[in-house]
Amino acid sequence: MTRIDILTLFPEMFSALKESILGRAQKAGKIEINIVNIRDYTEDKHLKCDDYPFGGGAGMVMMPQPIGSAIEAIDREHKAHRIYLSPKGETLVQQKVFSLIEHEHLILLCGHYEGVDQRVIDLYIDEEISIGDYVLTGGELPAMVLTDCLSRYVDGVISTSSLIDESFSDNLLEYPQYTRPQEYKGLKVPDVLVSGDHAKVDKWRREQAIEITRRCRPDLLGEKERK
Ligand SMILES: C[S@@+](CC[C@H](N)C(=O)[O-])C[C@H]1O[C@@H](n2cnc3c(N)ncnc32)[C@H](O)[C@@H]1O
Repeated sequence: MTRIDILTLFPEMFSALKESILGRAQKAGKIEINIVNIRDYTEDKHLKCDDYPFGGGAGMVMMPQPIGSAIEAIDREHKAHRIYLSPKGETLVQQKVFSLIEHEHLILLCGHYEGVDQRVIDLYIDEEISIGDYVLTGGELPAMVLTDCLSRYVDGVISTSSLIDESFSDNLLEYPQYTRPQEYKGLKVPDVLVSGDHAKVDKWRREQAIEITRRCRPDLLGEKERK
């Protein structure tokens, strides 16, 4: 994956993607992230992009025309994989991230208010993804979450050594990390980490990872390790 287009009514929210590792990756040309303002595509003379729901009920629904026109303008031949961030979607997990990075070009649609007109989903969207079983005010934060975790696996964005032994690789959570000072408020870094014995360090980290996973996320472990 090298390109992500994010469709939103609130482009200013995405300044966070200009910072730190993702900001550097874009400047270095490793990844292209385009923020597309859906309002630029409305044919309404008052620039309206949402309206009351048919059938009544609370809130507003995002209208199909501006979203449809935006998607057609950036992906006329439907070459991109199109995702709608939605609480109704498949819950995002690490394995899903690995399958999504296989797509060269992704389009992320952010809903707002009560969400988008169902016909947008039926006509234009390949899949819906949720970042968890709770409801947010908009798809902007979920789109940033997805963009962030996908970008980490784009070649050259972060060093490959940082991706080894991370939480969720090998179905384990990561072992505890320590840095200087060697003692802080009476708590010492475990002796093994300053022993210089790499085999012992590796063994300790593996044991810690299994122990932490057993305690915090036993569901990730196989039958044998759970005991
Ligand atoms: C207030 S929510 C709409 C919720 C919708 N009425 C429902 O009950 O399913 C507005 C927008 O936030 C986004 N959103 C909210 N929660 C989300 C989640 N857990 N994962 C992904 N997107 C979410 C979606 O884009 C959604 O269209």
